Amino acid sequence: MSEIKDSALAASGHQKIDWAYAYMPALREIERDFVAEQPFAGLKVAMSIHLEAKTANLALLLQKGGAEVHISGCNRLSTQDDVCAALAERGVTVNAVYGCDEPTYQRHLKMTLSGRPHLVLDDGGDLLELLLGECGADGVNLIGTTEETTTGVQRLKRRAANGELSFPALAVNDAAMKHLFDNRYGTGQSTWDAILHTTNIQICGKTVVVAGYGWCGRGVAMRAHGLGANVIVTEIDPVKAIEAVCDGFRVMTMDQAAPLGDLFVTVTGCRDVIVGRHFAAMRDGATLCNAGHFDVEVDVAGLTAMSVRQWERRKDIVGYQLADGRVLNVLAEGRLVNLAAGNGHPVEIMDMSFAVQALALRYLAEQGSTLSAGVYDVPYTIDARVSAYKLQALGVSIDALTPEQREYYQGEC
Ligand code: NAI
Repeated sequence: MSEIKDSALAASGHQKIDWAYAYMPALREIERDFVAEQPFAGLKVAMSIHLEAKTANLALLLQKGGAEVHISGCNRLSTQDDVCAALAERGVTVNAVYGCDEPTYQRHLKMTLSGRPHLVLDDGGDLLELLLGECGADGVNLIGTTEETTTGVQRLKRRAANGELSFPALAVNDAAMKHLFDNRYGTGQSTWDAILHTTNIQICGKTVVVAGYGWCGRGVAMRAHGLGANVIVTEIDPVKAIEAVCDGFRVMTMDQAAPLGDLFVTVTGCRDVIVGRHFAAMRDGATLCNAGHFDVEVDVAGLTAMSVRQWERRKDIVGYQLADGRVLNVLAEGRLVNLAAGNGHPVEIMDMSFAVQALALRYLAEQGSTLSAGVYDVPYTIDARVSAYKLQALGVSIDALTPEQREYYQGEC
C-alpha cells in the first residue's frame, strides 16, 4: 500500500516516465537480460532516492527483473508527486510526498524499510542511518546496499572505519561511469538549468562563486564559464585549488569572494560554507543556492535570524532583507537546487548512473552473501559493460589493441 499525494496525478507521471525511458538505451539493454533471467526473483528492494522520472525507470527495471520494489524519496523537495502516482499504478510501493515535513519524511523511510528488504539502494545515507539505528530489526534479510552519492559514501566509510557497518555496501558513486559523468556533467548542466528557469536572470557578465572544485564543482564552474560568467572558485584542498587556477578560474577564500559575487553555488558536501559574516559582506541582490547533498552548506537559519523580513519573491526564491535594507535571495531553501527546483540531471546521464546501479544490485543479489561487511568499489566489469552500452548507443567505435600493441603496452599477449 503506497502513501502518496494523489493518485489522480498519474497521467503526467506516466508521460514523464515514458519520455525518460526513450532516452535510456543502457537501461533498455539491461532490461532484456533482467526480463529473461529474473535476477531479483523473490527479493525485495528498498530504495531512497530523488523520486522523479529517471529513478522511476530504475525502479521499474528492478521490478521487471523480478524484484518487489519499495521506494521513498531522499529529499523532501525533490519528490515529484505525479511520478509517485504513476509508479504506484505500475505496482511499485511508494511512500513519498513533495514538501512533506521532516517527521513524515522519516516515517516514509521507515515504511520503505519495514518490508525487510534483501537489497537497499540509498542516496545520501538516510536509510543507512536507520538500518544501523532504530530500524536495525528491518535489516534481517539484508544482503547488501548500494550508495548513489559522494556524501552517502563518506557516511558509509565513516561507519565502516568505526567498525559499525554490519553489511557489504557498494560505492556506486565512485564507479567511473557514475561520478565522471553524473557529478561533473550532470550537476554542471542541471544546476544551471534550475538556476536559469528559477530566476530568469542573465548570467553573462555576472560574477559566480562556486564553492568546492570536486567532481560536481568542476562541472558547475565549467558551465558557468560557458554562460559567460566571471567565475571564482573557493576550496580547502590545495591541489584542487591549483587545478581551478590552471583551468582559468580565480581562486580565493569565501571571505574574499563574499563581497564580489552576484551568484553563489555551494557544492562541497561540507557544512557552514556560507555563514553570517559572508552574508554581512554580500552585495544587495546577491543570490545563493546549493547543489551539495544536504541543506547544511548555506546557513539559511543564520540568514533568517539576521534578516528583518523574509518573503517568497517567486516560486523557489525567498528574499531575506537585512537591517540595512540589502536583500539576499536563496533558491530552494538551500536544498540541492537542481532537484528541489528542477528536474535533476539529463536523462542520458542518469541512464549511465542507473545502469551502474542496476548491475551493482544484481552483483549484490548474486555475490553479496559471499562478501563481508565493508565498503566495496563496484567491480570494473560493470563500468566496462555500461561504457560499452553507451558507446553503442552513441554510435561510437573505438580502436582495439593488436596483439603486438598489447604486448608493448600492457606487457602481455
Ligand atoms: P568531491 O569530494 O569530489 O568534491 C567536494 C569538494 O569540495 C572537494 O574538492 C573539497 O576539497 C571541497 N570542499 C570541502 N569543504 C569545503 C569548504 N568548506 N569550502 C570549499 N570547498 C570545500 O564531491 P562531489 O562529488 O563534487 O560532491 C559534492 C556534493 O555534491 C556531495 O554532497 C555530493 O553528495 C553532492 N552531489 C550532488 C549532486 C546533485 O545532483 N546536486 C550529484 C552528485 C553529488
